[in-house]
Amino acid sequence: MKNNLVIIGFMATGKTSVAQALAKKLGKKYISTDMQIVKKTNKAIPLIFKEEGGTKFRELEIEIIKTISNMDDIVVDCGGGIVLNWINVIRLKERGIVVLLTASVESILQRSSSTTERPLLNVENTKEKIVELLKFREPFYERAADMSIDTTNLSIDDVVTRILENLKTKD
Ligand code: S3P
Repeated sequence: MKNNLVIIGFMATGKTSVAQALAKKLGKKYISTDMQIVKKTNKAIPLIFKEEGGTKFRELEIEIIKTISNMDDIVVDCGGGIVLNWINVIRLKERGIVVLLTASVESILQRSSSTTERPLLNVENTKEKIVELLKFREPFYERAADMSIDTTNLSIDDVVTRILENLKTKD
């Protein structure tokens, strides 16, 4: 029986807010892969990218997912690049249903503009970068997902409601 929910998707598609709301509603534990990495390394994510590089960050994600995939009754808020290593998806799917959140490029741009915590988007032309990364990543997200919700024009509550409705059809 799969009793975990795994929230995937590009940066700034609403994963954290939705995962926290879902965890609260379902009485499950909220786990953020990014937060686990920060805890483990005692470093902020931009610093890991700067000092140790993107490849090291992906290795840390693999380690964290290995641990998380042994847990039950959790809602996992995945960093946007988790799906790039298929082993992560395989591990997460063993006990979890994978929910993909998407949003329009404009909405991602707007939602991500308030923070500099995402090293991959700290570039001169952020919109161009989002389009480029999305183009490359979309097949990974789609292949991993058991269901998909476009959050562009939805509130957090709306997204949560849709996920719960969708889950009923999977019972
Ligand atoms: C990343 C997404 C970030 C974080 C890191 C890399 C990515 O998480 O893991 O900056 O490669 O998409 P969020 O998706 O929660 O912003």
